[in-house]
Amino acid sequence: MTILVTGGAGFIGSNFVLDWLASPEYRDEPVINLDALTYAGNLENLKALQGDARHIFVKGDICDRALIDRLLAEHKPRAIVHFAAESHVDRSISGPGAFMKTNVEGTFTLLEAARAYWSALAEDAKQAFRFHHVSTDEVYGSLKADDPPFAETNPYEPNSPYSASKAASDHLVRAWHHTYGLPVLTTNCSNNYGPYHFPEKLIPLMIVNALAGKPLPVYGDGQQIRDWLYVKDHASAIRTVLAGGRVGEVYNVGGWNEMANIDIVKTVCALLDELRPSAGGPYARLITYVKDRPGHDRRYAIDARKIERELGWRPAETFATGIRKTVQWYLDNPEWVSHVQSGSYRDWVSQQYGS
Ligand code: NAD
Ligand code: DAU
Repeated sequence: MTILVTGGAGFIGSNFVLDWLASPEYRDEPVINLDALTYAGNLENLKALQGDARHIFVKGDICDRALIDRLLAEHKPRAIVHFAAESHVDRSISGPGAFMKTNVEGTFTLLEAARAYWSALAEDAKQAFRFHHVSTDEVYGSLKADDPPFAETNPYEPNSPYSASKAASDHLVRAWHHTYGLPVLTTNCSNNYGPYHFPEKLIPLMIVNALAGKPLPVYGDGQQIRDWLYVKDHASAIRTVLAGGRVGEVYNVGGWNEMANIDIVKTVCALLDELRPSAGGPYARLITYVKDRPGHDRRYAIDARKIERELGWRPAETFATGIRKTVQWYLDNPEWVSHVQSGSYRDWVSQQYGS
């Protein structure tokens, strides 16, 4: 038994791979990790697996059909878990092209390769095969203050190039199930945080900027609301859905933890004041309100009752426990932070694996 993971050198994908190979149920099930190593892919995240035969890393693009066909034929995975994407909203505003290419065309290419592979499987393997698509709550659009949280039945109303590209990919996955019978599962998750989070996103950016004494840029009035989930809980939700989710179904995944951005930033500052006090005074002095993100969604919230009712999954971490672990992880891993900041993490492949 083997699984093919795409985007397993990114933030969530690498946490998923590490947790998969550490879990009692799946520790003997190897992972083929296909990742293009864009700026967001970092093999240092997977350092602990160096020399581990259960992790087979392949540098490559999900738009490369021949490569995917070859990997499927060679390794015969029983599932594909699809994380690979361009994931940063701000980058999608300044350069949407890469999002259409990877998130839409890449998902299409992967679906077509999966369909060809799955169609030719023997009946038992065909029944067992799953294509798990990892998606986002942003496809549902923006909520008003008193709207109920997003359920799986909410209409799609994406507002950014990123969320539009993810919405398109979700629709493709749905259509490949309805038209061709491909056994798909989709999870739509809220904002993740935790170890190996690239410091272009809110929480890691605030931690690394604060430690460097730099301004903490809060967009607009800072009152935008997100639901936050510790990344290892997202990994466990995906394992749960992959194991028991009903084929063709969508499961929303969230942390039952809505917070305004400014409160997130203040929480990070307070933890740093406790764990690494600054000689210059409380870190909150660095908070700086800046120009808002264009088209900024006001509020996301997740109704995660379906995954709990059907599969018994609930997050293990509260925000208080998860954010403390996260801040501590950044304090304990200054080398990872400095390699990301200097860009030298991108040399890791040639250093470790040769050309
Ligand atoms: P990330 O940007 O940290 O990682 C993306 C990974 O995909 C990188 O390793 C990158 O090298 C790889 N990649 C990009 N383009 C590729 C291509 N064409 N071919 C192969 N690999 C490619 O993203 P993340 O935050 O880990 O998100 C992973 C997935 O989860 C995405 O699909 C995202 O939409 C979804 N998601 C993210 C969050 C979140 O809060 N970060 C929440 C919900 C859903
Ligand atoms: O909701 C799930 C989504 O969460 C995922 O699908 C995306 O891949 C992931 O990037 C994340 O998107 P967001 O846009 O919500 O994440 P980001 O960390 O970029 O921003 C979180 C909030 O913080 C958002 O309201 C914008 C705000 N923000 C962000 C940055 C980077 C700031 O105020 N200042 C900043 O510097």
